[in-house]
Amino acid sequence: MSKTVTVTGAAGAIGYALLFRIASGQLVGPDEKVRLRLLEIEPALKAAEGTAMELVDCAFPLLEAIDITADPNEAFDGANIAMLVGARPRTKGMERADLLEANGAIFQPQGKAINDHAADDIKVLVVGNPANTNALIAMNNAPDVPRERFTAMTRLDQNRAYGQLAAKLAIPLTDIEDLVIWGNHSPTMFPDLFNAKIKGPPSQKAVDAVDDMAWYENEYLPNVGKRGAAIIEARGASSAASAANAAIDHIHDWVLGADGLVSMAVPSGGQYGVPDGLVSSFPVRVSGGDYEIVEGLEVGEFAQSKIDITVNELKEEQAAVKSLGLIG
Ligand code: NAI
Repeated sequence: MSKTVTVTGAAGAIGYALLFRIASGQLVGPDEKVRLRLLEIEPALKAAEGTAMELVDCAFPLLEAIDITADPNEAFDGANIAMLVGARPRTKGMERADLLEANGAIFQPQGKAINDHAADDIKVLVVGNPANTNALIAMNNAPDVPRERFTAMTRLDQNRAYGQLAAKLAIPLTDIEDLVIWGNHSPTMFPDLFNAKIKGPPSQKAVDAVDDMAWYENEYLPNVGKRGAAIIEARGASSAASAANAAIDHIHDWVLGADGLVSMAVPSGGQYGVPDGLVSSFPVRVSGGDYEIVEGLEVGEFAQSKIDITVNELKEEQAAVKSLGLIG
């Protein structure tokens, strides 16, 4: 058995941290061979070729083939998994509408190419920012693909939320479960300590274990939400290895399943009052190659007020891309 995995932005920083892990079997497990398709823009094709040479030099037994192209139709032909990493970054003086428009020019044609050429079981993960709205654009331009196959990444935010909570409580990460992110992959995201648990016995709600709402609201939320900016400040470059790691986690769990709740930004079916079709992060359960938004979780007044802020931001982005004609 083999899977065709398309990675866009393959010559970029995340691409470099991602491709070797995919080829080594960490994405879809040790029993499945992978065929890599690298999509890049023309000026970066040579760099992608260099990365492909290194992939060959790793002699990965599971790596069946590598193709490099600047044509989305070729890149997504027969793809089972698409990891859309390449995106247009915000440059100085760029307004939000310009950023959305520039990314629309990338994600609209990629959505169409996925629609026309990908395998029937295609699963799409958007990493390139603004990730939720880029996924919304691709999804709306792929009317023949079931919309739930389009997802965006909030797993890095979840992993950051685990790390910072473990440090606060001075406990191992593995003692935490069901800690998920709601909303947009942006500083407004909401890491939910009400539904997260600290393993027992007796098991305890994370918010009770912390027992410090001021810390939750004034330190934890902004520190998790702005971790990306803190990393840019410290490294002089944005998160790459941790982003690639989270992308692996996201697809690995979607394909192979996982215990407990995980965070995925997925098209809403109207759950928790999030408008139908908006791509927002939810608590999901993954098994058998599918995911399901988990309903009936506690959403109190505090959580709801935070979820409203992040979902409203997504609604604004949706309205902006609609007015630009990028979605129907
Ligand atoms: P990078 O600038 O190093 O690489 C991006 C690559 O995408 C470049 O090689 C560029 O040539 C390529 N590219 C641009 N347009 C393309 C197109 N139309 N088709 C194919 N490739 C194209 O950036 P890096 O660090 O790899 O980050 C990639 C994206 O991931 C950025 O948008 C970044 O903001 C986002 N990101 C998202 C995170 C998340 O948690 N969702 C976390 C960290 C980064």
